[in-house]
Amino acid sequence: MKFGHFDDQAREYVITTPRTPLPWINYLGNQDFFTLISNTCGGYTFYKDAKLLRLTRYRYNNVPYDNNGKYFYIKDGETVWNPGWQPVKTDLDEYECRHGLGYSVFHGKKNGVSADITSLVPMGDTCELSRLTVKNESGAAKKLSVFSYVEWCLWNADDDMKNFQRNLSTGEMELELPEALAGNAAFKGRPWVFAGDADRTTIYHKTEYRERRNHVAVYSVNAAADAVDTSRDAFLGAYNGPDHPDAVFGSGCTNSVASGWSPVASHEFDVELAAGEEKTWVFVLAYVENPDDDKWAPGTTPSEGIVNKKNAHALLAKYKTSADVDKAMETLKSYWEELLSCYHVESSSEELNRMANIWNQYQCMVTFNMSRSASYYESGIGRGMGFRDSCQDLLGFVHLIPDRARERIIDIASTQFQDGSAYHQYQPLTKKGNSDIGSGFNDDPLWLIAGTSAYIRESGDATILDEIVPFDNDMSVAKPLMEHLKRSFDYIVNHKGPHALPLIGRADWNDCLNLNCFSEHPGESFQTFGPSEGPVAESVFIAGMFVKYGEEYAKLCELKGDTAEAARAREEVKKMNAAILKDGWDGEWFVRAYDAHGAKVGSKECREGQIFIEPQGFCVLAGVGVEEGLAEKALASVKEKLDTKYGIMILQPAYTEYHLELGEVSSYPPGYKENAGIFCHNNPWVSIAETVLGHGDRAFEIYKKTCPAFIEDISEIHCTEPYVYSQMVAGADAHFFGQGKNSWLTGTAAWTFVNVSQYILGLYPTLSGLSVDPCVPGNFGDFKLTRKYRGVTYHIEVKTNGSQKGVKKMTVDGAAVEGNVIPFDASKKDVQVVVEM
Ligand code: GLC
Ligand code: GLC
Repeated sequence: MKFGHFDDQAREYVITTPRTPLPWINYLGNQDFFTLISNTCGGYTFYKDAKLLRLTRYRYNNVPYDNNGKYFYIKDGETVWNPGWQPVKTDLDEYECRHGLGYSVFHGKKNGVSADITSLVPMGDTCELSRLTVKNESGAAKKLSVFSYVEWCLWNADDDMKNFQRNLSTGEMELELPEALAGNAAFKGRPWVFAGDADRTTIYHKTEYRERRNHVAVYSVNAAADAVDTSRDAFLGAYNGPDHPDAVFGSGCTNSVASGWSPVASHEFDVELAAGEEKTWVFVLAYVENPDDDKWAPGTTPSEGIVNKKNAHALLAKYKTSADVDKAMETLKSYWEELLSCYHVESSSEELNRMANIWNQYQCMVTFNMSRSASYYESGIGRGMGFRDSCQDLLGFVHLIPDRARERIIDIASTQFQDGSAYHQYQPLTKKGNSDIGSGFNDDPLWLIAGTSAYIRESGDATILDEIVPFDNDMSVAKPLMEHLKRSFDYIVNHKGPHALPLIGRADWNDCLNLNCFSEHPGESFQTFGPSEGPVAESVFIAGMFVKYGEEYAKLCELKGDTAEAARAREEVKKMNAAILKDGWDGEWFVRAYDAHGAKVGSKECREGQIFIEPQGFCVLAGVGVEEGLAEKALASVKEKLDTKYGIMILQPAYTEYHLELGEVSSYPPGYKENAGIFCHNNPWVSIAETVLGHGDRAFEIYKKTCPAFIEDISEIHCTEPYVYSQMVAGADAHFFGQGKNSWLTGTAAWTFVNVSQYILGLYPTLSGLSVDPCVPGNFGDFKLTRKYRGVTYHIEVKTNGSQKGVKKMTVDGAAVEGNVIPFDASKKDVQVVVEM
């Protein structure tokens, strides 16, 4: 069953009922200012850091779903409704939500009145625009009241929902109103109510501005409101929710000024619309910063506490009219048009085209921006940026804006420790490592090599290796990035266990395989409780990673002219490869790990958890066991033991009991998350592994199983958004087999894009240029690619001739070329490539 459809022309997903199985959301904002917005207008807004600079309040663990957002209410006689259906949930005569790239538009209609909202964050500004148009299509004149509503968060979103003894006393507001409204009797004796422009009504949220903050939040509209409210209790009524505000259902806003308690912002407009008449408002929700020495209104003292509104005015002046919104929208659309022109495919598969050309790249941008911080499943108050997560996110993003990836690599490397290990997470605002979780996730160091290599292969910019980068943010011990990579590499070399395989530490990619933890009591962290790191437990997965990224490291050494280091690296890789073949092979598949007692994990010797996906995918994609025929066997075992109609499960058989020696992996009920869920992130590893072996049919089959556009028809089972990947789909052991969870922020986005663009469609950036080596199904047919790379645009035509893999012939601008790497020539602008398989 579907709840909408794709509109590829407009690059939108069109949701046609508000009653989706879960809130289906979108992200507004490309760089610093972000809003999460659901198909029923729920969501929240923050500046840079979802925990520390939260503008609007979201209610976690919400009942009903998706509680709090940026709402508009329309009161038409006795009927109150919202264009996005929530929160009043009056049945609408018409409803539509279109999620586009960085914007969302809503259409609602009730009793002959239509309302359309366009929401976006304009490029380069720290605000969100919501344009609301209300039209009377009823054929007779109508009197309507229209209300806006947001609830402010007192900035630190974590403290905001815990520290009530303080927070209920700190809220402060300032109002800048048209003169007539400012003179309203309700404001008599209230400080901070001022007369301003006749055609603008602005509400300032300035909690904590009197002390250590240099920023305010603003909710403004380009018209003279008839009334406002800024106290939640006044607007909603003490025992009401946003589904039944007193002001809306009663006799309107009461010009309340919040003082402590919960500040909100609501504008009321009472309008009379003739038949066919419409009215448009432009609302601006903004974050405004003032320099510390210019915080107060000119000529006033700090104790008067009047905000200097110069910067706010300058920002608001840019968005005065509907045409200003149109212009911002055009700029946003051409920004995305330009970005997406970096990679474009035309193939026989409509679903593949729409994912690869639009949604997968869009999700890569979002995961790059957010890491695992703010979604409807990541609260934005817990994890910041992940070391391994961010390194992987940039694999799918780097072709879009290489410069931002470069900056990110430096930020990440700056949190590395001198011995090559790394903080597992860091805060986006401070860019400092997070010591609660600390280090000891022994896959982390290698991901830095993966990310850096991807950046250089994409951009050709090797100067990044010479950048002087601190360790643990300490400039006094800074070293060139190349030295950081060496320490990453050597961290693995120097931390091996009894089988000469890498020590796992607290966990490797699988955060839940905690082989050194031994937690017996609820509430103890699976990752940091107990010894956490030990001298015995080893990871075959990290060994596979080492083979893959050790070789990439060696290539970077060669690029720098250090052939001795490259040779040393390859020697180490060879040793690792041998160790995997010796003690990492179980007979039919790769072993997952050795536990702290030296027992195998992921082996036929085990009662549960006999086979894990991670080492099968990563060892094979790294080339381990290919010559020996073991790779074929490993992937056949994956197909036989782990595959389902909804994707490949992470392990089998599921753990039915808690295993002290394994940790969190065995804590989940069978079929969920790391305990035999379909963890989407590593499905592409297996698909890539299949391309390494030339199995185009199977690689594509795996790609399709978790790919949102291919499973749109089962949205009632899958539940999460059909335009983005989820972290997990419940596995065959689960009661809700096939149900998606944790959509949006997942490494799946980057890895599936890498898989489809670089391995299936086969355009892989090497250090010396683009290589073309597709691996597609036998019946895939011909396809065309456009790819911008280092300033050159390549137009590539692939004739498959029914073959799954193997380039037989390639011409570049008409001339035949040896091999399958397109020679890079910076003097060209457009290059025509024809490939015959
Ligand atoms: C989550 C984490 C990621 C980890 C994965 C598997 O998605 O963000 O870092 O690799 O779970 O445990
Ligand atoms: C839990 C989750 C895992 C995630 C981790 C983040 O262990 O199961 O997916 O990566 O938390 O800390």
